Amino acid sequence: MHLPDLEVAKKREKKANNYIKLEEHYDKVFLGKKYFLRTYGCQMNVHDSEAIRSYLEALGLEESKDASFADVIVLNTCAIRENAKDKVTGFLGKCNYLKKKNPNLKLVLAGCMAEQPDVIDEIMKNHKYIDIVIGTHNLHELPKLLMKEFNKQVIEVYSESDEVIEGMHYTRDSQYTAWVNIMYGCDKFCTYCIVPYTRGRERSRKLEDIIAEVNNLKEEGYKEVTLLGQNVNAYGKDIGETFSHLLECVAKTNIARVRFVTSHPWNFTDEMIDVIAKYKNIMPYIHLPIQSGSNEILKRMNRRYTREEYWALFTKMKERIPNVAITTDIIVGFPNETEEDFEDTLDMVNKCAFDGAYTFIYSKREGTPAARMEDNTPMSVKEERLQRLNNLVNHYANVNNQKLLNKTVEVLILGVSEKDNTKVYGYTDTMKLVNVVGPKDIIGKIVKVQITDAKSFSLDGEYVK
Ligand code: 5AD
Ligand code: SF4
Repeated sequence: MHLPDLEVAKKREKKANNYIKLEEHYDKVFLGKKYFLRTYGCQMNVHDSEAIRSYLEALGLEESKDASFADVIVLNTCAIRENAKDKVTGFLGKCNYLKKKNPNLKLVLAGCMAEQPDVIDEIMKNHKYIDIVIGTHNLHELPKLLMKEFNKQVIEVYSESDEVIEGMHYTRDSQYTAWVNIMYGCDKFCTYCIVPYTRGRERSRKLEDIIAEVNNLKEEGYKEVTLLGQNVNAYGKDIGETFSHLLECVAKTNIARVRFVTSHPWNFTDEMIDVIAKYKNIMPYIHLPIQSGSNEILKRMNRRYTREEYWALFTKMKERIPNVAITTDIIVGFPNETEEDFEDTLDMVNKCAFDGAYTFIYSKREGTPAARMEDNTPMSVKEERLQRLNNLVNHYANVNNQKLLNKTVEVLILGVSEKDNTKVYGYTDTMKLVNVVGPKDIIGKIVKVQITDAKSFSLDGEYVK
């Protein structure tokens, strides 16, 4: 096993840090100005927003939690389903009103919607007041574009190549748990999915850059990292690396907790399972989207596995990784899904008894192959199927949570509980949310908690000294 070259990584990071040096030019323009940032969508977008926040703050802007007081509004958008777009267009109405009140307000549309030319054409026709559109590939150009908007001299420092941009800075949401990109894009082209079009081809970060970032986070006191990719199994294909090797190297940094999302059931290797089982600091939790339990639908989705193959992988994971929790994603109402197809999905949910599942009604994405498929299943039938599916999913989530009742588990405490500020909250190694009766000074620590109540979506517990 070769070890990552940390010196090379450090040099590359230094080179890419240029934009921070520009602070002295920027702060006169942006001093005293405020920004408002709203994020839609997946973890990848949440993490991109941490980079956007860092760029804006490097310019000298301060965050406002209220859009009414902002000089710059950034919407980091999602394109995965139609309702994500509806939410954005809804909020744009409010932005239009704010711009009328404050003509100097700059409005930035970022994220996945900005990578869809047709969608952007339509939006720009109806919302002419948007100042900047910036896609997921160009986030690092945000300071330059804002400078242009504010009519100030632009200083070019950016590489315009397709290379993975290193040295990104993040104003992270948490002090204890951090997202770490390991790769960008997706080459799987599931027929319903817009991601390969909005996020582009698979590109891996260099192993040593990832390890350097994890080591830095550990030094800064982070307890947990989550390695992020649309399909982490594909890590390294383009640079002669493998995900299992990366995972092993990350585990060897001895950061307390390592997680990763998302895993595709296709090409999930035995080596990956072995590494997860071997290292105590790799959490026994795998998000393994099944999407459908019907072989016919899986084929039309271009998912590259059958229900039998999914089941074989699932059982192997359960056998080899002690106490592993497995969650999934399921789409109902894929074009022309029959009642029989849907019952195959229910059957897989019954067999796998998932710890949890994110469930969605299929949403047609223009430009994807599934958008051209005939679909005669009425929406009312799809809605009714979603309801039946959710009832079953919640049942198994509850059954799995009940198994923890009266047990003592390790929880990384992340903050004060939102619903009850006398409690704190955190996550078990298996990624279950626990609201904990305990002192505030355990925030940021991994502590023992006795589980006192178990529901479908969360657990209650008491801190054990
Ligand atoms: N319609 C509904 N759900 C979708 N997903 C992806 N594309 C679509 C779509 N067009 C779901 C998948 C994926 C999750 C992130 O979103 O289940 O795993
Ligand atoms: Fe979309 Fe499939 Fe890629 Fe996941 S693996 S991002 S569902 S195309």
